[in-house]
Amino acid sequence: MTRHFAIVPAAGSGSRMGAERPKQYLDLCGKPLLWHALATLTRVARIDAAFVVLSPEDEWWDSFDWTGLGPRLRVLRVGGATRAASVTNALQAVAAEVHPEDWVLVHDAARACLSVAQVDALIDALADDPVGGLLALPVADTLKRADVDGRVLMTVSREAMWQAQTPQMFRHGLLSRALAAAPGVTDEAGAVEALGLAPRLVAADATNFKVTYPQDLALAAQILHARSVQ
Ligand code: CTP
Ligand code: MG
Repeated sequence: MTRHFAIVPAAGSGSRMGAERPKQYLDLCGKPLLWHALATLTRVARIDAAFVVLSPEDEWWDSFDWTGLGPRLRVLRVGGATRAASVTNALQAVAAEVHPEDWVLVHDAARACLSVAQVDALIDALADDPVGGLLALPVADTLKRADVDGRVLMTVSREAMWQAQTPQMFRHGLLSRALAAAPGVTDEAGAVEALGLAPRLVAADATNFKVTYPQDLALAAQILHARSVQ
């Protein structure tokens, strides 16, 4: 049986949020923002363990109570200077217990509104896939490329354009090789693509957005609240 593990990079500083603390520790519905994605991933029955990747200098984690998330939550203090470095370090840190053929689901801590159904759909869609893939959203809006003055340079066709989300799900061995060869990528799929492989796009929805700017917090809170009262 192939196993599934989650890796949640949470070693960023949240510079675009501009808050007094890293965005993963901002309050969202009474919990640190990071809590929500971890709660979802630890509720997915097929995920054996969820590894959260913290900066070695992280001074916030220990000030919150994470025990409610259960024993499948594990902490790695191996974050690096970039998201790709944080993921690469985590893949190395778990290599003794995760086999090269096991699936790894890498998920941004900042995508707080991830649902169990979205993760289950990804795992189901990729169960027999030789490469792996990612949750993604077909682009709905017309796209414009801007010039340096903030005016439209041209309209870009949205046909066949997708926004990459996370989780991104690849086998541990393949992903480790891919990131070692392409450390400058901004997502795991980019590294796998650089090997000449074609990750599968699995359609998700806009609720799985990445909390990035201050105004995103209210939207995330509304999505979580709407789900909790359903
Ligand atoms: N991340 C990480 N290690 C880094 C940089 C980012 O683990 N060196 C994580 C973030 O904590 C986040 C995820 O990667 O969960 C996606 O990154 P992003 O949304 O860009 O977060 P930040 O880099 O913290 O934000 P910003 O780019 O605005 O500074
Ligand atoms: Mg960043």
